[in-house]
Amino acid sequence: MAIRLGDTAPDFTAESTMGTIEFHKWLGDSWGILFTHPKDFTPVCTTELGEVAKLKGEFDKRNVKAIGLSVDSVQDHNKWLGDIEETQGAAVNYPLLADPERKVADLYEMIHENANNTLTVRSVFIIGPDKKVKLTLTYPASTGRNFDEIPRVIDSLQLTSNHKVATPVNWKHGEDVIIVPSVSDEEAAKKFPGYTTVKPYLRTTKDPTA
Ligand code: BEZ
Repeated sequence: MAIRLGDTAPDFTAESTMGTIEFHKWLGDSWGILFTHPKDFTPVCTTELGEVAKLKGEFDKRNVKAIGLSVDSVQDHNKWLGDIEETQGAAVNYPLLADPERKVADLYEMIHENANNTLTVRSVFIIGPDKKVKLTLTYPASTGRNFDEIPRVIDSLQLTSNHKVATPVNWKHGEDVIIVPSVSDEEAAKKFPGYTTVKPYLRTTKDPTA
């Protein structure tokens, strides 16, 4: 069955470019981004993996660890890493899991038979420190992801897990947020003094973390 939001992210042990990874242990208390690419030595994937390397500072700020995966071997991953650094100007600074036997790919249903029956699609699983799946994304092989979305959405996930707020369309850290409907006006006045009522069901307030 497909992995759904709120499920515990399946644990596994697999080889990577940075040694053997016991997934839950490796995550520790961090948030995690497990993302897949279809195949080593392919053009779109080369750009994506370089971009994730460039985002390391953003991930570190948010206590997030990134880890990639494809059905290739550690040897192939290692041969490809030099090309990524050369062409994208960033060395891959996170582990790449090797899954030639598709054990993790099957566990997470990362191979979508009707798209391609041998290669992983472009999946993203964002996992909280409680090891629960907080968000999933699935893109086809032909479309590179917009990785700017990942730090943005992690800001929202972290904010909304700590405060009784939700984030509106295209929200970015520091912009006004929405008070969730389960908060009464009385409670809102205490928690979010000076909040704005646009409609009784649409109440906004300053980003409490800004
Ligand atoms: C790519 O990364 O460019 C790619 C990978 C698999 C299929 C198509 C494109």
